[in-house]
Order: sequence, then C-alpha cells, then structure tokens
Amino acid sequence: MSDKITIEVLRRKKESGEKITALTSYDASAASRVEKAGIDLILVGDSVGMTLLGYETTLPVTIEDVLHHTKAVSRGISRCLLVADMPFLSFGVEQAETIRNAGRLVKEGGAGAVKLEGGEQIIDEVKALIRAGIPVMGHVGLSPQHVLLTGRYSVQGKKKSEADQVLKDSESLQRAGAFAIVLECVPSELAKEITERLTIPVIGIGAGPYCDGQIMVTNDLLGLTDGRHPKFVKIYVNLGEQIDKALECFNKEVKEGSYPDKDHSYWID
Ligand code: KIV
Repeated sequence: MSDKITIEVLRRKKESGEKITALTSYDASAASRVEKAGIDLILVGDSVGMTLLGYETTLPVTIEDVLHHTKAVSRGISRCLLVADMPFLSFGVEQAETIRNAGRLVKEGGAGAVKLEGGEQIIDEVKALIRAGIPVMGHVGLSPQHVLLTGRYSVQGKKKSEADQVLKDSESLQRAGAFAIVLECVPSELAKEITERLTIPVIGIGAGPYCDGQIMVTNDLLGLTDGRHPKFVKIYVNLGEQIDKALECFNKEVKEGSYPDKDHSYWID
C-alpha cells in the first residue's frame, strides 16, 4: 500500500486534481478494512452517537466517547490520516478547555487532526488550536450540532444570503489555517465555487461532484442504518439485511437442533 497520508499529501492531491476519499470509522476492525480499501482519511465522527450509541442526535456525544473510539480506530490503522471530531460543547465554551479536549484526542487518542463544526464564530478557537500545534479540519454548510436551532437537517445555502455565509465561513477557516474543510449538504454549484476559490481541500458530503473529495458515514453506505440515512447516500451493499438473515438462521438452527453439527464441533462419537 502507498505511503502514510499526511496533510501535505492531501494538499498535493488538491493541487493535482486527484480526488480525496474519506470515511467514518469507530472501531479497529472496521477502520482496518477502510484503510485496506485505500481510503485516505478516517474520521471518528460524532455520528458515532447516532450510528452506534443509540442517540437521536449527535448532541449527547462526549469527548470521552470520541476519545474511546479514536483510541480503538488508531489501533487498527497505520496509513490513513486519522481525524477526530470535537463533539458539541467540547469547544466554544473556553479556549483553554478546547485546547485541552483537542489535545486529549491527539495525545491519548492518536488522532492526527481534529474537526470542528462552525465557521466565523469559531475562528479564534481554530487559530488557538493551530498555534498549539493541532491541525484543524473545518466543517461548514449543514451543522448537525446546530439542530436545536435549525430544527431539522436540510440543505444549506439555497438562498443567496446563506450561500454568501457558507462561502465566508469557508474562507475564514482557510485564512485561520485549517488544512481542509468538510462541506455538508449545499447545492453543487455553491460547492463548485467554494472548491475553486479555496486552496485547501474541500471534502463534500451531500454537496455534489465538484468537491476535491467525498466523505460518507460508513454505516450508511454499508446499509447498516436501517433506512435512517440522508437522501444523498448511495448504499453500496445492504449488510443490514444480510446480518438479519444470518442472525435469524442461527436462532432457527440452534432451536431446531441442526447447529452445532459434526462439521462444527469437537465431535466425539
Ligand atoms: O460526524 C460525522 O460523521 C461527520 C461526517 C458526516 C462528515 O461529521
């Protein structure tokens, strides 16, 4: 497999027009498969709250949750760039606390960078993290951490004023020193404009084909989220259905006595 993916490698990919791939992971075994597939960047997203932990939103996710899953993922990979998400209110309260929290994801978790949702309003914190030596990935457009304010998860930037704000947020993050941004759920023409204007990689999710790369929640594309996935998701395999069938089969075979059999036991006649 190719060399370790660094921020510099991603920058070169943007320059040469080579697409960047990114997926979420929350545990070592899934992460090692993601890495084996040749994916560039793994995000331990706060989506872990909805995909694995049974929460309705990402808001209850704690820094301890993300740290726990980041440690697991870092044990399963050696090449991908590992980015850990800063959960709701683990930043934006006090700058010192933001640095301490992000520092734990790097020092204890093994992350190579952190991701923060937000634009102009978090620029001072982004700068402080970078000054402290922690690379930052921005996240603009749809911000699931603002769902209490927006009331739903919907496309951002349809109106001119909204589009201008998403553009301003993206440019401020670049100026502050972010090495890349995630651009979530914006019209593809806006994504194209932002991708062309920015010199840092723009990784899209539900933002059309013109971004420098794409990120997706792995559980969505594997069909593990039981239909609770956004419209833009392409399901590459329906593992949910296959798992259901396998589990029903085990239940049936044990109850009817056809498992264990001679081929699957230390059988002594
Ligand atoms: O938490 C997450 O998984 C994310 C991706 C959807 C980009 O932020």
